[in-house]
Amino acid sequence: MEIGSGSGEHGVFFQRSFPEILWQTSDPELAHRKSIISWIEYEELSKKMPQPIFLDVENVPWKIPLQILDSLQGIVSINMIHVAQWTCTRALFRESGKLLNKGQFLMLYGPFKIDQEYTSKSNNIFDKSLKMQNELWGIRNLQEVSDEGKRNGFFLEDIISMPANNFSTIFRKIA
Ligand SMILES: C[S@@+](CC[C@H](N)C(=O)[O-])C[C@H]1O[C@@H](n2cnc3c(N)ncnc32)[C@H](O)[C@@H]1O
Repeated sequence: MEIGSGSGEHGVFFQRSFPEILWQTSDPELAHRKSIISWIEYEELSKKMPQPIFLDVENVPWKIPLQILDSLQGIVSINMIHVAQWTCTRALFRESGKLLNKGQFLMLYGPFKIDQEYTSKSNNIFDKSLKMQNELWGIRNLQEVSDEGKRNGFFLEDIISMPANNFSTIFRKIA
């Protein structure tokens, strides 16, 4: 299940890449959910891929249809936590912690500060531009994100460097 799927372009790519699983997209914005539907149709995945669901991480408890919960294997969120207030990160871990079982994962992709430091000059500039749009947005410090994970039963299993100074961070549910 993907949180904050945006346009849906990533979702259809992953669905195509991993035909053995179902990629469940979600977004709180109607315009985004419409875009996801268009991408699914454009990629001719309508017979395979589920329709996007409404999911606002702060609207708790999450109301996820049972058939999705039954087959849930992991949660992915790409470029969301820095384009939303910090309370969204906290809600994301809290609710994911309730839904996921031991050994399942929450993967967060995006830019992070490491030890409170930007990992590139461009990320410093990007952070300033985020805060100009909304003072509550901003690149998160990975240590604080990881602490939030710990509070909700996850450990930070892996940090994978990605192009353009981004990281894939894998949080694994401990129990
Ligand atoms: C920068 S976009 C990233 C979209 C897509 N994942 C990508 O990488 O292209 C941030 C996304 O997070 C979603 N978002 C913002 N606040 C959210 C919230 N409270 N709960 C869930 N998604 C949220 C937005 O609607 C938007 O689609």
